[in-house]
Amino acid sequence: MSSTEARRPGVMAVTSGKGGVGKTFLSANLAAALARRGRRVLVLDADLGLANLDVVLNLHPKTTLHDVFTGKCHLEDAILPAPGGFSVLLAGSGLVEYSRLTPEVREQLQRIIDTLAPRFDHILLDTGAGISDVVLYAVSLADEVLVLATPEPTSMTDAYATIKVLATQQQRRAIRLVVNQVGRIGEGRVIRDQLQLVVDKFVAPMLPEAGAAPVLELIGEVPLDPAVREAMQKRQLLVEMLPGSAAARAVDAIAAKIAP
Ligand SMILES: Nc1ncnc2c1ncn2[C@@H]1O[C@H](COP(=O)(O)OP(=O)(O)O)[C@@H](O)[C@H]1O
Ligand SMILES: [Mg+2]
Repeated sequence: MSSTEARRPGVMAVTSGKGGVGKTFLSANLAAALARRGRRVLVLDADLGLANLDVVLNLHPKTTLHDVFTGKCHLEDAILPAPGGFSVLLAGSGLVEYSRLTPEVREQLQRIIDTLAPRFDHILLDTGAGISDVVLYAVSLADEVLVLATPEPTSMTDAYATIKVLATQQQRRAIRLVVNQVGRIGEGRVIRDQLQLVVDKFVAPMLPEAGAAPVLELIGEVPLDPAVREAMQKRQLLVEMLPGSAAARAVDAIAAKIAP
């Protein structure tokens, strides 16, 4: 099976390479912003080993993906309503056994996404850090990939490494980019152009076809904003707690691009 065949419409993976850049923050708040626009949204915590979407949303799930994987509960019972008007499928922390891509993890993830895709307009996969085979497999199920980077050089290097793998292993031609924690408006564009330059220079020659290098589409930049940490610490959604904050408005602008 080629990775291209597995892509599911409406499914968008949020990934970054580097950890701690804001994937979970963005997944949760983007989901809420999309829900506000009338979309049916589900966020799946695909950070199977170190899940923390439940913490960010202040949910204490009795049923998680773990129970679905082991057949202890039906998929339906693990889909929970989140504050913000969207649904979540939580992994619960400490699912160390799922941090490796076994045939079971593969089959279960695919089955779950296949079952849910027709029911939602958007399924966001909040992936873990890195480019492990679990992360890459989750991304391979998604029709769209959103790479999140920050202006930190280490984040940019990791974003580049992720993009390289997505181009060479998954033949991705289009990748959406969000630059988080920018210091000033316009910085996102600079980062996007820098990344595109290295992709064209170093990734393009690795690909069998000319002109097959992925095009990075900047779909938003989110400022470094103390309101983010404030909301995270209160375990609330920023777009609900401080909708007028610069970061919340930036997330809403991304939602407007995805769901015009
Ligand atoms: N735009 C931002 N401004 C300020 N702090 C941010 C911003 N985005 C994320 N953070 C902070 O970064 C930390 C990591 O975010 P998180 O979403 O958990 O990252 P990841 O899921 O990529 O590991 C959080 O504590 C959050 O408060
Ligand atoms: Mg996270």
